[in-house]
Amino acid sequence: MTKVCRSSSLWLVLSAFAVLSLWAAEPSGEKLPPPRKGEDAFMKVLAQRASSRAFLPTKALPRELLSDLLWAANGINRPESGKRTAPTAMNWQEIDLYVAMEEGLFLYDPQGHLLVKVKGGDWRAKTGGQPFVAKAPVNLVLVADEKRMGNLPPEKKAFFGAIDSGFVSQNVYLFCASRGLATVVRAGLDREKLREEMGLRAEQRVIVAQSVGFPEE
Ligand SMILES: Cc1cc2nc3c(=O)[nH]c(=O)nc-3n(C[C@H](O)[C@H](O)[C@H](O)COP(=O)(O)O)c2cc1C
Repeated sequence: MTKVCRSSSLWLVLSAFAVLSLWAAEPSGEKLPPPRKGEDAFMKVLAQRASSRAFLPTKALPRELLSDLLWAANGINRPESGKRTAPTAMNWQEIDLYVAMEEGLFLYDPQGHLLVKVKGGDWRAKTGGQPFVAKAPVNLVLVADEKRMGNLPPEKKAFFGAIDSGFVSQNVYLFCASRGLATVVRAGLDREKLREEMGLRAEQRVIVAQSVGFPEE
C-alpha cells in the first residue's frame, strides 16, 4: 500500500515538473500588433508571394510584360550609377538573366534593356525536368559570371553567386505576385549539363532557374 502511495506521489511530482517545464518553455516576449497586410500595395504583394507550378500552356507573355519582368528582376534602376534592382556583393553585378522561351534562348542586356538572341528553338524543357517546365512560357536561368568577381577562392564565389541570385529571384517572385503571374524558382536541374548546352564559359555558373507564366485557371 505504502509502495503504491509513494509511486503515485512520485508520479504527481514528475507530472508537476513536466507541466512547469512546458510552461517555462512558452515563448516569451512582447506581443506585436498584427501586421497591416492590406495597408499598401507593397504589403499586399508580400502577402501574395508564393510558389506555383500550374501554368497556362501556350500563352506567351506579351513583350510589355516580359520587359517589366526583366527590369524588375535585374534591371538598372539608377541610370546615373548603372546600379540594379537587385544588390550584389561589391557591386560585381555578376548575375545574368537568360530567358528560355518557345522562340529561343535569349540574354537580357540591362544596359540597353535588350533581349539578345543566343540560340534558336524551343528552350523551355531544357531548363529542368519537372513536367510544368516545358509548359511555362518563360523559364529564366540565373547565371553567375564568376569572371566578374575578382580573385576570390571558388567557395566564396559560389557563396556570393548564390546569395546574389536569391535577390533576383525574390524580385521575380514579388513582380509575379503584383501582376497575378505564377512563378517558382528551381534548383532541381542539371546545372552543369544546362551550362554546356547553353554554350557558357566554365566561369559562368548556372545557379537556379525560375519558371514564369499565367496561372492555370
Ligand atoms: C533555393 C530554392 C530551390 C528550389 N527548388 C525547387 C525546385 O527545384 N522545384 C520546385 O518545384 N520548387 C523549388 N523551390 C520552391 C520551394 O519548394 C518553395 O519555395 C517552398 O515549398 C515554399 O513555398 P512558397 O515559395 O510558396 O513559400 C525552390 C525554392 C528555393 C528557395
